[in-house]
This record gives sequence, structure tokens and C-alpha cells, in this order.
Amino acid sequence: MSQSSLGDIWASPDAIFARKELLNIDHIPEEDRIIGRDDEIEDLASQIHPAVRGGSPRNTLIYGKTGTGKSLVAKHVTQSAQKFAKQQGTKMGRVYIDCTQSATETRVVINTAHTLNNPDKTGISIPVTGLATDVYYHRLWQILDELYDVAIIILDEIDKLKDNEILMQLSRAGESGKVDSCKVGIIAISNKISFKKSLDERILSSLQDREFIFPPYDANQLRAIMRNRADAFHDGVLTDDAIPLSAAFAAREHGDARKALDILRNAGELAKHEDSEQVQEHHVRDAREKADIDRFSQLLEGQPTQAKAAVYALSLLAEHERDNEFSTREIYDVYKTVSDELDMDTLSHRRMHDRLSEQVFLDILGESERVGRGRGQGVTNYYFLMEDSHTVQKVIHQDSRFEDLDNTDFRV
Ligand SMILES: Nc1ncnc2c1ncn2[C@@H]1O[C@H](COP(=O)(O)OP(=O)(O)OP(=O)(O)O)[C@@H](O)[C@H]1O
Ligand SMILES: [Mg+2]
Repeated sequence: MSQSSLGDIWASPDAIFARKELLNIDHIPEEDRIIGRDDEIEDLASQIHPAVRGGSPRNTLIYGKTGTGKSLVAKHVTQSAQKFAKQQGTKMGRVYIDCTQSATETRVVINTAHTLNNPDKTGISIPVTGLATDVYYHRLWQILDELYDVAIIILDEIDKLKDNEILMQLSRAGESGKVDSCKVGIIAISNKISFKKSLDERILSSLQDREFIFPPYDANQLRAIMRNRADAFHDGVLTDDAIPLSAAFAAREHGDARKALDILRNAGELAKHEDSEQVQEHHVRDAREKADIDRFSQLLEGQPTQAKAAVYALSLLAEHERDNEFSTREIYDVYKTVSDELDMDTLSHRRMHDRLSEQVFLDILGESERVGRGRGQGVTNYYFLMEDSHTVQKVIHQDSRFEDLDNTDFRV
């Protein structure tokens, strides 16, 4: 591309977006743009309230489905606490760790220490690699005591941590005498309620000071959340349908604000791409399909081939039957034909069932239990897709091992 045509691109104003950054997932909106979370904000604020004057913040667990504002509320409240603490003369440290990025104990300690450190004052260095984990811990405790009265550490997506040692260390830093004067509080966030089962009793007792569950939004709240960011678009660009339709799509499984904003942003991008002057209904519909595929690809990425084969089998069933829930036995029969077709090992019934349960944990599949009729009948697990079968197959076909599979080849 020549310099002058590039110049044209730089010079041309964006006809659709006025402040696109308002729709970025990481953007933290101002307080008056946050909708329907007053109680959650107050609850969390009361947990960390003592900290603004240098007292101990209470450890907190936050649960809730994806897109229910957990990360947003945690960031917003702690930011505000930090500002207030500063006015009070309290030295408050604040760290936000995304455990999908820092999944090991050592990485979390390094990132925490690195964020809190001020090497000019402490003379402590935190090399990115190379030290033993206890050395990093030791430096972290030193930094905390030297620089802060209190520190709040947000561990987001905590179920992604490979082990829970870090939680144990941080949540009990004070009582175990690791830090002398600094008070440490943890805010742990997860969208998996079942995650709690994997926690050690000792961690639970120190974390369970209080736990909050964030409910999904209803369609009205989703509309309000989007309307509050409509100034991301130029005046008149959003047609009347755009926001209600995005809200309706995002409320379908559970009210997910991330999905709502994603759909709206993608719809804007599609409109821009087509040189359309407005975001219209068909842009929103197309954006929704793209959002579903993106989300599902992310979830499925890195899953073992066997798991994909089992999910594919379920998608074949879902496509052909009116019923949308299937027992392991029904799925297993189809799974065998899929694994044959792919020339791969066939797992035992039991192992495939384990694979299906893992997919439920990852929100790739849903699960329900039915109690059998008659005596001696146990509980049977039924599985269903969280996306439509068309989307699921499209995503699985992106994996080269599955690309030649043709759904019409299977007689289900
Ligand atoms: N109550 C709200 N008001 C305004 N915007 C919101 C609200 N809740 C969520 N959002 C926006 O929706 C998006 C998703 O929210 P957030 O990241 O906090 O969800 P989450 O609960 O952490 O989801 P996940 O479990 O997937 O991480 C963000 O862009 C956030 O700014
Ligand atoms: Mg989050």
C-alpha cells in the first residue's frame, strides 16, 4: 500500500465509532455507568472497608457466571478504596492478577511482588525468572512490610491456577507470621461454583470470611448497560433495534454483559467494514454468530482430541433429535462411530464419561441429572450443548484432524 493511500486511511474519520474504547472488555467504566450492581459494590466495599484506614481487609470469594461484572466490580471497588486510603494517609497496595495469564504459584508471586515493588525504596529486585519460589516469597513479604500498611490482592479466574498453594500463602500471610505489619487481603474470583470443592479446608476457612454470588443480568439491565455506553458510537449510528436485539441475544443462556458488549462492538465493526452508515439488525445477527463461535473456540481450544470427538458426537445427536439432552450411553454409541471415522483409539464408556464431565466443568457442555423411575434406578446424567450444533461443528472443524468429517456421513 502506498504512503498516500495509508495517509487517506489515517485521515478519514471513523464513521461508526466515536469512542470505541468504551466497548473494550478491559475498560473500567465510571461508577455512574455501572448498572445493577449497587448491592455487590456495597458488600465488597464493606469487606475491605477497614483497610482504607490501615485495618485488615477481609478475604472474599466472588462467584458468578461469565459476564456478570465480577472483575469489573472488584477492580472498581479496590481502585476507589486505594484513592480514599491515600487521602487518609494509608499506604495501600493493590494488585490485580489474571490467573489465566499467571497460572503457577511462582508466576503469581513474581507478578505480585513486581507490581508492589519500588526498587528505589526497597533496593529489592524481582528478576522475571531464575530464583526459587521461596526466595520470591521472602522478597514479597519484605516489600509488603517495607512499603505498605495494607495490600489487596485480586486473584481473578482463580480456578485456572495449577495448584492452590499460593492461595494458602497469601490468605494466611498475617496469621502465619509471614508479614509483620502489613495487612493482606485477598479477593478471589471464579465463575465455577464447583471450584470450591477443590479447596483445602484451611484455605476455605481463611477465605470464607464471606462469599458473594453475582446473579446474571436480566434483559433490562443489559439494555441499560449498553445504553450507558452508546456514546461509543456517533450519534444516529445505532438503529433502534441494535441494543434491544444485542440484549436479547446476550440474555438467552444467562444475562452476560460481556457477550452483550461483544455483540454490539462486533456489529459496529461489521457495519464499518460494509461502509454502512448505521448498525442495523443484520449486523447484530451476524455479530452474534461470530461472538458465539469466538467464545466457543476459546473454550474448546487446547482440549484433547478425544474430548472434541465426544462433543462432536453430542452435536450430531442434537442435530437429529428433537430432544436436546442425551445420556452418556446415547452419546457413547455415536462417539464410537466418530472415533472409528477418525481412526483413533476408542475410549471406554467410563473414560468418555469423565471427558464429558470435564467439558461441563469448562462450560463447554451443560449437564442435568434425572432420577430413573422404578426401584433401584439410580441417577442418570444427561448432557446438552451450550451452543447450537451448527456453531459447535463449525468450531470443531477448525481442528485439522476434524476438518474432513462430514456430519451427513453419520447415521444417528
Ligand atoms: N453492571 C455493569 N455495568 C456496566 N458494565 C458492566 C457491568 N457488568 C459487566 N459490565 C461489562 O461487561 C464486561 C464483562 O464484565 P466482567 O469482565 O466484569 O465479567 P466477569 O463476571 O468478570 O466475567 P468472567 O467470569 O467471564 O471473567 C466488561 O466489559 C464490563 O465492563
Ligand atoms: Mg472476569
